[in-house]
Parts: sequence; structure tokens; C-alpha cells
Amino acid sequence: MRTIAIANHKGGSGKTTTAVNLSACLAEMKYQVLLIDLDPQSHATLSFGIELADDEPSIFWAMQQPASERAYLAELARPVAKNLSLIPSARLPLSHEESLLSRDNRLTRLRELIGQVATKFDFVIIDCPPALGILTQNAFMASQSVVLPVETSFYAMNGVSRVLDTFEELARFHHHKVEYWAVATLFDKRTALSRDILEELRRFFRNNMMETVIRLSIHLREASSHGEPITVYANTSRGCQDYCDLAEEFLVKVAHRGEEPVECSEEVILLAQIYGNGRETLEALRQRGILSLAKLRMAEPSKLAHHLGLTVHATRQMIAHATRLHTFPQQIMPMVTTGSGHGISQEAEGPAPANQLVLESNTSSIETATAEADDFPHPNHH
Ligand SMILES: Nc1ncnc2c1ncn2[C@@H]1O[C@H](COP(=O)(O)OP(=O)(O)O)[C@@H](O)[C@H]1O
Ligand SMILES: [Mg+2]
Repeated sequence: MRTIAIANHKGGSGKTTTAVNLSACLAEMKYQVLLIDLDPQSHATLSFGIELADDEPSIFWAMQQPASERAYLAELARPVAKNLSLIPSARLPLSHEESLLSRDNRLTRLRELIGQVATKFDFVIIDCPPALGILTQNAFMASQSVVLPVETSFYAMNGVSRVLDTFEELARFHHHKVEYWAVATLFDKRTALSRDILEELRRFFRNNMMETVIRLSIHLREASSHGEPITVYANTSRGCQDYCDLAEEFLVKVAHRGEEPVECSEEVILLAQIYGNGRETLEALRQRGILSLAKLRMAEPSKLAHHLGLTVHATRQMIAHATRLHTFPQQIMPMVTTGSGHGISQEAEGPAPANQLVLESNTSSIETATAEADDFPHPNHH
């Protein structure tokens, strides 16, 4: 199980939208997901059309129970979609927040509760309030990762340094380290300001920034007022596409961290050699989690070209070739691998690996393959 807090000191930065829809996309990918609404404004709860009556237990009720009357988190979780459960929030009078503050284990209440359900869920996602008080600190202490949605507006960086300071304090005084990932949200590509701010965010956050950008999408706004996640409300919308991309990137960057090293498939290695600079291109692909043909064919050519340092034309060809290989693996592979070349492959002892053969095969067969591949419709270019 991995716990992720969605936090930003600033309200309206897309926290709740990200928490709800990232959860929904991970659930769609068949992961068992628990979404905890930790904001007394209950926006995530309302996004599923749920409103608690005053006497119904919320996450805050559970956090306030004394150890002798232990609360069971699993009993509070409500199924809201396939593979997705929600623990609702409720209004929290100020005095209650203060009463949480007076406990010994005040920063680890939530972590203890989440520990109860460690075997039931793959991901626990916490939607934090727009503040860095006791609730958000509980969320950080319970999490291994924090996703930091940042609105691509003039005030984007407002308060971000305070969030980063809070991470440092928790590391220094409570020996709890979290890794964080900024995500640009509410991006309007039509405005130069949005584009400039995105560049600025990328420069500032560098490796702590998700590639995926969440664009403005009216469907995202509408979905929450319909009480549905975007995967249910409009599963072909750009909002759904962006959050599913984010979920995929998240799985590569965050969730599989520390497991076996991830390597590109043989076919991707081959394409990096044909269209790029071999090892460098491969490393850039690997760092972006583009390990398979399936991933490569979904890439956006101009964006990928920029990262790989290749021309858009070469990148487009590489993606088209990946699409072709992915769709007709049996047809294409023998064609590009059996060319009777000359050079390295003949010097090598025994049968050369497929990628060498391709490099040395007569170029006309490669050109034929790519020319055909270019005609093939790309999934991102409708
Ligand atoms: N990508 C988006 N496109 C359009 N509207 C969005 C998008 N992300 C969020 N919103 C809307 O912006 C408002 C603030 O978003 P929300 O996720 O509630 O932010 P926060 O939880 O940080 O306060 C909401 O009305 C939400 O529907
Ligand atoms: Mg919110």
C-alpha cells in the first residue's frame, strides 16, 4: 500500500479535482483505492454526491476517538465506484481541530488509522484542506508521497515555499521524509501567461515535476457537480485523458519506485537506435517511463521531441513506427530484422541480436517500414 497526500496551502489549485480523479483513474486500472476526504469543506465527499448527517461518523470522528474506543477505518469506507472507496469528511468545528492538537500522538492519528487497512488497499489518497495545520500535517505524516497541484496562474508559486518548509520540518523534527511531485493544473494553452508559468514551474521544480499537465476542462468542473468522477461522467473528455495520463506517470514515477530497475523493451531499444542517438535517446525514454511500444505510441511528438533532443519529424516517425510495430508485431518484425546487411552484424560472433541486425539491414527496408508507419493513424492525432 502507498499513501499519497494531495496538498497545497492555496485553495482552488485543483487538489480535490486531482484527488478524486487520480483515485478514479487508478481504480479504473484495477487498483484498490481508498480516498480520504480530510477537508472539512467536504468537497471530495460532495463530488460523489454524499453529504453526511450530523450524527454520521466522518474521518474526523475516527481521528478523535480515544484509544480505548478505537475506531475502525474500514467500517467508515463507502464504496463509490468499482475498486474505489471513500471515507467522508464533515464540518469540523474549530474547537474539535484544537482538541486534536491536545493529543499525545496528535501528528500520527491518521497514520495509525490508515495502518489498519494496509492490506486492503493498493493506494490511499488523501485530499487535504487548503492549510498547513494539524490535518495536513497528519496527512503528510501518513504519506510516502505528496502530490502538489499548482494552478498555472499568476499566483502559482504563492505559498509553495511554505509547503516545502513543512516537509523539511517534518523531516527534521519527526524523522519523516516524503517525496513530492508538483502537477500543473488548470492549464490554458491559449494564453501566453499559462505557457510562461508552466515553463517557470518546470524550471523551479525540475525533477519534482510531473510531465503530465492538467488542462482546463469544463467536464472536470461539471463532473463534480454531477457527483461523479470524470471516468464515469465523461470518459472521452480531455479531463479524463489528462488524469489517466497522470495516473500512468504516477505509477511509473512513484508507485514502482524501489522495485526492480525498469528497462525499455527490445523494440523500444531498436527504435531509439534507428531514429535517435541510441543510448542517449534510450536513457531519455527510460527516464520518462516510456518503456514499451504501447507507451511510445501514446506520446505527443512535439513534447517528446523536446525531451529527446530530436527533430519533431524524427520523433513522429519513431512514434508511427512504434504504432505499426505495436499493432502488427508479426508482420513488421521479420521484415526489419532479416535484412542481409553488412558491417557490425557480420563481425559479431554467432547470430547478432535483433537490434544490430536492424541497424545494419539495408536501409530501404527500414524506410519502407517507416513510410508505411507514417500513414498509420496516430491515437493522439484525431
Ligand atoms: N482542470 C480543470 N479544469 C476546469 N476546472 C477545474 C479544473 N481543476 C479544477 N477545476 C475547478 O476549479 C475549482 C477549484 O478546484 P478544486 O479541485 O476544488 O481546488 P482545491 O481543492 O485546491 O480548492 C473547482 O470548481 C473545480 O471544479
Ligand atoms: Mg479542495
